[in-house]
Amino acid sequence: MAAVDSFYLLYREIARSCNCYMEALALVGAWYTARKSITVICDFYSLIRLHFIPRLGSRADLIKQYGRWAVVSGATDGIGKAYAEELASRGLNIILISRNEEKLQVVAKDIADTYKVETDIIVADFSSGREIYLPIREALKDKDVGILVNNVGVFYPYPQYFTQLSEDKLWDIINVNIAAASLMVHVVLPGMVERKKGAIVTISSGSCCKPTPQLAAFSASKFLFAQYMPEWLWVWGANILNRSLRKEALSCTA
Ligand SMILES: NC(=O)c1ccc[n+]([C@@H]2O[C@H](COP(=O)([O-])OP(=O)(O)OC[C@H]3O[C@@H](n4cnc5c(N)ncnc54)[C@H](OP(=O)(O)O)[C@@H]3O)[C@@H](O)[C@H]2O)c1
Repeated sequence: MAAVDSFYLLYREIARSCNCYMEALALVGAWYTARKSITVICDFYSLIRLHFIPRLGSRADLIKQYGRWAVVSGATDGIGKAYAEELASRGLNIILISRNEEKLQVVAKDIADTYKVETDIIVADFSSGREIYLPIREALKDKDVGILVNNVGVFYPYPQYFTQLSEDKLWDIINVNIAAASLMVHVVLPGMVERKKGAIVTISSGSCCKPTPQLAAFSASKFLFAQYMPEWLWVWGANILNRSLRKEALSCTA
């Protein structure tokens, strides 16, 4: 057995015999670092393009670009309310949809008074399933809806395994997070296609990006739209709108 008189010598001997493995590992590391760097640069570019560049120039004329009316689901609180206010600040008339009529009236009046636009309300509970869409269709029949914001969404009461989730909650997630967005698109898309303009914004979630433990159904419901909505719209006949659907981004405060 060869005598080893120092750790450094031992290390050098091992390193020499593993040289090709180290090179292979270095290549994997370089590939991984390059991939991550490209992703970070692309994300940074998107951040600048979507949130900073639009603030430099004059604001886009959304009415001319898309139409006079915007529909926001889940519009009386949080992100939906912020979208409604932002769109109203750009001069669009707003149709607000939520469950609570009193809250709807208060928010609609606030928006109308503050931004001097027309507002309309639709009382609907998206967890009720199919029956609500006929009245919504009727209410939107004569409005040239240029922007739809699919905002309404339900979350878990707390993280749970799929097997612990109640059947009622699962139906809520299906009806509110999946069916509502699909059906609302089905209601407004024919008009947009006919007018050859429109934009559809569907609010997703960070948990759409990876299957999230103990939020499986929520994560899946958000993944569906984040990943497939543009392709579905293409297939459903919105190819005319595709450019604007992919490119439009609004800034809002929540
Ligand atoms: N907040 C976050 O941190 C976060 C993170 C990721 C994703 N998101 C997504 O962003 C969207 C909005 O979230 P948010 O936190 O802003 O919501 P929020 O503050 O809880 O507001 C929910 C809005 O939706 C309405 N609503 C709730 N259930 C409804 C139903 N079944 N039918 C009709 N309207 C209903 C509520 O009004 P009424 O009670 O009067 O009906 C309210 O206007 C959701 O899609 C959510 O998944 C939020």
